[in-house]
Amino acid sequence: MIDLHSHILFDVDDGATTLADSLAMARVAAHDGTHIIAATPHSPGSSACRRYDPAQIHERVAQINAALASEGVPIEVVSGSEIFFTSSIVEQLKRGQLLPYGQSRTILLELVGATLPSALDAMLFNLQLAGYRVLIAHPERIAEVQQNPNRLIPLIERGVLMQLTAEALIGGHGERLRTTAETLLTHQLIHVLASDAHGLPPRRPPLLRAAHTRAAELVGQAAANALVETTPAALLANQPPRIPAPRPVSASRSHWWKR
Ligand SMILES: [Fe+2]
Repeated sequence: MIDLHSHILFDVDDGATTLADSLAMARVAAHDGTHIIAATPHSPGSSACRRYDPAQIHERVAQINAALASEGVPIEVVSGSEIFFTSSIVEQLKRGQLLPYGQSRTILLELVGATLPSALDAMLFNLQLAGYRVLIAHPERIAEVQQNPNRLIPLIERGVLMQLTAEALIGGHGERLRTTAETLLTHQLIHVLASDAHGLPPRRPPLLRAAHTRAAELVGQAAANALVETTPAALLANQPPRIPAPRPVSASRSHWWKR
């Protein structure tokens, strides 16, 4: 499996603190069946960002990979970022001040708040015009999406991808997020399942297997495999992923918790 969202890089944000933490997270992930982890440190603007230096990110990714190779842990770490939504993303990407995934032109975009930002459409247009593909991190957390999952459909129809957090699907973030996660997944509004790991179990662990198994129960094995292997691999290779058409959620389902 490929994990496209992980705070495995040490001493940059609220994830791993030391190199030893990073290696411990990688060992746990490898044991769970993950073979590639994208390091996605928080970018400036996020309250969790402590430092963000692209050269240092590349250096630490190389350091972690060298240590894992010498230990014989079968996992590769690739560079990336969890990019906080600001008005200067496109310019900063062009200048190399923000990192997409590896050598690709796909970015992981973090939206904070209860609603989708009013400037989101213009930002996505500018990103796409500049040749970037956008994966939105954990849309299940956004209250507006919980209330009306169909808000994601116009975004998906214009090529934006959605990343569900594995733990949310198996109940680790509470019943509301679990139900939202299931609704999004079963209506083909999710394209990538990732851990958003911040440390070792039990807190925000680098695990995908249990959520992958649950996804297979809900949407079938092939669709579940696409979430953790086929689609992430395509994104890292800068290839257009095959995306199923989104299915609208009926109103009775999307407003379940208000009753
Ligand atoms: Fe994250």
